[in-house]
Parts: sequence; C-alpha cells; structure tokens
Amino acid sequence: MNHADGQYLEAKRTVDDRALDRRVRDRFLDELPAAPRIREAAAGTGVTVPRLLDWGVTAGDYVGVDRDADVVALARERRASECGGEAITDGFRVDDLTVRFEQGNALTAFAGDGADCLVAQAFLDLVPVDDALDAFVDALRPGGLVYAPITFDGETAFQPDHPADDAVVAAYHDAIDAEPGRDSRAGRHLLDRCRARDGDLLAVGASDWVVYPPYPADERGFLATILDFVAAAIEGRVDGATDWLRTRRRQLDAGELSYVAHGYDVLYRVPG
Ligand SMILES: C[S@@+](CC[C@H](N)C(=O)[O-])C[C@H]1O[C@@H](n2cnc3c(N)ncnc32)[C@H](O)[C@@H]1O
Repeated sequence: MNHADGQYLEAKRTVDDRALDRRVRDRFLDELPAAPRIREAAAGTGVTVPRLLDWGVTAGDYVGVDRDADVVALARERRASECGGEAITDGFRVDDLTVRFEQGNALTAFAGDGADCLVAQAFLDLVPVDDALDAFVDALRPGGLVYAPITFDGETAFQPDHPADDAVVAAYHDAIDAEPGRDSRAGRHLLDRCRARDGDLLAVGASDWVVYPPYPADERGFLATILDFVAAAIEGRVDGATDWLRTRRRQLDAGELSYVAHGYDVLYRVPG
C-alpha cells in the first residue's frame, strides 16, 4: 500500500473536509494560544495549512514533516501556490504564519521542540500508538495539544451489497494488522491509550469517510486507490476476490459505488 502517493493525498482532501468533526475542531481552536507553534507529523501534501488559515490561524509557526521526499516537495509547491505569501527556505510565509515542510521521521523529528500543538491526521493507524504518543509528549511543551483527526478505526463498507463483502473486509483489515506497527483499530486504541495516560482527553468525535456518487472533485480517483489498497490485500487470499474487484471497479466506473470508513478525531492535552 502506498499511502504517500501525492495524487491520492490530494484527492482525499475533500473527503477529509466532510469528515472532520466540527466540535473537536472547535475545541482544538479554542485551546490554541495566539500565534501557536504547530508541528504536524506525517503532513503529506500539507493540506492542514490552508485549513488552519481558513479556521483563522493566521499567525505563528508551522512545521510539517513527512518521510516521503516527493510528497514534501509537492507540499511546498502546491501549498505555496494555493496560500500565496512570500517564499522562505523550505516553505513560505503568509499573513503572520511561517510554514515549512521538511523530510524526516515524524516520531523523532520534533523531539525537544516545546511546541504548542502536534497535529497527526490519518497517521496513527500506521505506527504504534504508544510510540507516537511518547514522541508527541517529547515534542510538546507541558500542557501542549495532540490533535489527531481521521484516525482509522476498523469499519469499512462498500455498497451495493456483494456476497464476498464480509470476507473481503476481514481480509483487508487482517492485512493492515499484519504490517509491522499498523493497527486497523487505531482509533479506539488511541482513546484507550490517552485515557490510560496522565493528560486529558479533551474531545472525541467520529470522522467517517463517506464517498458516494456523483463523486465530487477527484473522489472517483480516491476511491480507485482505495480499491487498489483492498486488491493488494485480498488477491489470492479470498474466494471470490476477482469477481468482487471486477464488480467494484465496474460500479465505480458507472458511478454506483459508495464507500464508508470509520474514523475518530481526538484532542488530547499532555500533562502540564
Ligand atoms: C495516510 S497519509 C496522511 C497524510 C496527511 N496527514 C493527510 O491526512 O493528508 C500518511 C502519511 O504518513 C507518512 N509517514 C508514514 N510514516 C511516517 C513517519 N514515520 N514519519 C513521517 N511520515 C510518515 C507517509 O509518507 C504519508 O504521507
């Protein structure tokens, strides 16, 4: 599975826009200090930056880190041309917000940074949750915030019904869990891990991806990539996989396929 494909990350943007839980987001914005120091783990193509600007975060200092150099290059180019502003090394400055994108390992890159906030969107199903929380505590000042939207949580549905659905979805989730560090139920485990720690779980909401025809923006392309992820997980492992995939791709071409993936948005404050 290649979760770092730039086109896929750009295509999922409108899906994420619909999914984000407004209540968790509003609490996040309420808790942010003026001119915050924001760090983003696994920033992808940097779509958080225009969202922050839209939400009124127009001052401070943002650094997004992703391990994929091509994605980092795309983030610098696309977000600079979208957000405007003045070029600086590795990024740009817009209003009073300084934005930089860097290549690196998000679990080590921000150690000792004393940041106000750590954003981790659609990332915590890819790495061990406790390792990530430990890294985020190291990156934040006492009382700093972890905002973790779109954390996948182990429910996947395709419609219309197909007889192989249950076997396909089970094999897809098993394949995720078989990858080192990955967890198809990361969302609920993130809640458990935050509650077991000394900080405060400030807000939680569901953030399901729901994609249905007619597909807006590039959501047909997004769904085609999701089918490729599922194909890689099930081919040769599930009876009826070939028919299932052929049927789903035909339904996508015909504008008949719907898809839901369950996720959580989580806002956690590390101990003060
Ligand atoms: C599903 S994408 C999410 C990207 C972005 N947060 C978004 O929601 O659009 C996962 C991203 O994690 C990055 N990634 C995976 N492991 C990483 C690590 N240890 N450090 C930094 N980036 C990582 C991948 O390169 C990819 O861009």
